[in-house]
This record gives sequence, structure tokens and C-alpha cells, in this order.
Amino acid sequence: ILKSGKTNEKKFAVVKTYGCQQNVSDGEKLSGMLENMGYFLTEDEEKANIIVINTCAIRKNAENRIFGNIGALKRLKKKNPNMIIAVCGCMTEQKDEIKKIKKSYPFVDLLFGTHSLNRFPELILKMLKSKVIKNKNRIFIDNEKDEKIYEGIPVKRTGKVKAFVPVMYGCDNFCSYCIVPYVRGRERSRKSEDIVSEVEKLLENGYKEIMLLGQNVNSYGKNLEENINFAELLRRVDNFQGEYRIRFMTSHPKDATRELIDVIAESKHICKNFHLPVQCGNNRILKEMNRKYTKEQYLDIVKYAKKKIKNLSLSSDIIVGFPGEKYEEFKETIALIKEVEFISLFTFIYSPRNGTYAANLPDPISKKEKTEWLMELLKVQEEISFKEYKNMKGKIFRVLIESKSENENILLGRTDNNLTMEIKPEETNVENFIGEFKNVEVTYASGRTLKGRFV
Ligand code: 5AD
Ligand code: SF4
Repeated sequence: ILKSGKTNEKKFAVVKTYGCQQNVSDGEKLSGMLENMGYFLTEDEEKANIIVINTCAIRKNAENRIFGNIGALKRLKKKNPNMIIAVCGCMTEQKDEIKKIKKSYPFVDLLFGTHSLNRFPELILKMLKSKVIKNKNRIFIDNEKDEKIYEGIPVKRTGKVKAFVPVMYGCDNFCSYCIVPYVRGRERSRKSEDIVSEVEKLLENGYKEIMLLGQNVNSYGKNLEENINFAELLRRVDNFQGEYRIRFMTSHPKDATRELIDVIAESKHICKNFHLPVQCGNNRILKEMNRKYTKEQYLDIVKYAKKKIKNLSLSSDIIVGFPGEKYEEFKETIALIKEVEFISLFTFIYSPRNGTYAANLPDPISKKEKTEWLMELLKVQEEISFKEYKNMKGKIFRVLIESKSENENILLGRTDNNLTMEIKPEETNVENFIGEFKNVEVTYASGRTLKGRFV
């Protein structure tokens, strides 16, 4: 199917991806499939024959922005009626959103959800062959629940230094605020041999950092025939020669085992940076969120990790203003972040998602008040990060050089604990350093900026 869409005519495609790394990884597959069908990928929408909008549904403001951007395509479609406009991703797994696209965005020709990603070439071919576009017919695949794993889909990677490798798809946790289990379906893991060989090939091809992806990586292996868990998978991908880094996202604290911490501590390549979303620091709210751990259990695993892993840095996700959360309860989140001292936080104001348990709960606190709470939290976190950053001054870190800034001779790299560092080398041909590991001394550390020099 991939090949049969090819013609001699030069065709262009745009893939626009929103949301998390999982979605970026899906976007790389969409691009890979398009390239195999003979399309040239571009960012120039004006000359595109196909535009694919790969959507995110995690919060309302993400959806609003995406709807705005889909709306803006109307003008292009008018100019070029043969252009195919496709919408896919998490938003297109929800009834109301599908209805809205059907009704208010008549220029969207093709819609398919996260479960139909592998059918993308087939659907495009169908549109081209049957002249669906000319007849103004639309294809909407809006109720497919195929949860098989398809290996071998071509991937066009966005970078040359860092690569995403999904290890599992879907989520069975049903945190009461979260739409992901509804739009991404049940948990399913890739076979370990497929993951290990993908990592091996990436390393052979010069990639230096592998990010293992899953909505809940700690559940890896649960539904596989082979007897394996995430800690064991980490051991296997840690086994290759040469200098490289392994990261993973996202961990659920309820499944973060001591075995996992031990593997990170003993590993050669796994970054000593642990993203462990806590969401909030009050036990009543954690229960309402259906997180299945208490603040004490969270602090316990963090304590163990800090003891076991030298120079560990922790990061987390926080939701402020869950329905019914009281100010005193929110203050316990502040107390927790002071106690743990995360290096960085991803913070969100609660956003109700249709179909989730929390969306039906009374939510008396205003958005304005929640924003004030968030500001209070950010101020506390800023002080913690600033302190951590200041401590780095004068010290030497191993940095992976990832890119060069666009107009200056400045290199951008990343430390093991996931902080970005700017380096201005004396050499002029600095492109050659991209993809290399370097020892860098921090010469400047202020706010969120770290600058350093090669040593
Ligand atoms: N509202 C706000 N934040 C949310 N997240 C997930 N769902 C919601 C929601 N409905 C946040 C959580 C999660 C991160 C990816 O997004 O903190 O860990
Ligand atoms: Fe957004 Fe979640 Fe879908 Fe990722 S999995 S794109 S965060 S809704």
C-alpha cells in the first residue's frame, strides 16, 4: 500500500503534531508512512498536497488551540480544493470532538483515531484512487478499537541525536481527571526483542539518547507472554557498548518499585533523573484522583531513590485545583515540593474532560483563585530550582551536545539530569560537536540558564 500511492509527480506533506512525546512518536510514524508513499515532508502548508493534524486532548486549552489551527486551514483548502486535510490523534477518539469536526469543519476530508494509525496509507490511497476528494466525500473512521501492536511501520525521526522508542501503549489506570485511558485504550506492551533491536539499530546509526515511552512504563510487560517487567527491560537496553543515554517516561508512583530504583542505580547508561508525577500532596485528593498511593508512600519511594542513586534529580507533574480541593489541602502540595526538592515541575490547572469521573464533581473554586494558587506554587519551586542551579556553578558535567542555536555560534546540550546548557566554543565549525558527549564546566548559573565551557 505504501508503494502503490507513488507517482512521478512531486508531492508534499505537512505533519503537525501537538501534545506529549507519545504523540510526537506517532507523528514520526505518520511522516515515515508519507515518505514511503513518495511524499516530501515540508513545513510549508501553502504547497502541501496533504496536511495531517495530529491532535492532543489532555486539556481544554490544548484542544481550543488545535481547533483554532484547524479552522485556519479553511483558506488553504479553498485555494487548493485537491488538498487532503486529515485530522487524527487523541482528540479524534472523542464523540463530541468528532461531531464538532464533522459539523463545523466541512473542509476536513479524513479523520481517524489513535487506534487506526496503521491504516493511514490505506485511507489516503482510498481517497486518491476513488476520487473521494473530487466528489467531496469524506472518510471518518470514528469508532475503531483495534488494539493490536503493529511492528515495522516506517519512522521518520525528528532528530539525529535523540530518539523516541515506545515500549507500551494505552493506560489502564483511570486517574479520575484523565482522558488518556479513553483515547488511547487498554495497556499493551511491545515484545522486548522488538524494543531491544530497535534500540540497538538506533545506537548503530549514531543516536546517543533513547527515550523509552509509555503512558505508564512501570506497567511494561504485564500483558505479555514472556515473563518480563520494566526493570528487566531497562537492564537489557543498558547492555550495549559505547557512550549513550537512556531516559524513560512516564512512571506511575504506585508501580515504581525498589527493583526499578536498584536498576537505575546500578546501570551504566540510564540517566539519574527520575520523572515521577505526584499530582498533589494531600491524601484525600490523591484518593479522589484515584492515584492509588498516599503522600507517605510517595515520599517513601523518593527517599529510597535518593539514598540509592547518587546525584539523583527528580521532576514531577502537579495538578492545581482538582474539583473540591481546599486551600489547606493545596498547601500540602507546597509542603511536599519543599520536602522533595524537585529540579523541575510541570504544573497544570485542572481542566475538566468529558467522560471522566472528575468532570462530574462540584468544582467551586474559581479559575482566578486556582491561578493564584499556581503562582504561589511556582514561586516556591523557582526558589528550589534556583538553589539547585546555583549549586552547579563551578562543577563539571557530562553534556550531550544536541544542537546549535540558529544564528549564533552557541551549542545547546543537556546534562544527565535533563538541564539545558549553553556553550560558546572558540572553534568556528561547531556543528561537528553535535551528537558528542563533552565535559563542561558551569561558568554561569542564574534563573533557568546554565552556561558552560568545554574542559
Ligand atoms: N487537567 C489538568 N492536568 C492534567 N493532566 C492530565 N489530565 C489533566 C487534566 N484533566 C496532567 C497530569 C499528567 C500530565 C501529563 O498532564 O499532571 O501527569
Ligand atoms: Fe495528549 Fe495524552 Fe494524547 Fe499525549 S496521550 S497527545 S498528552 S491526550
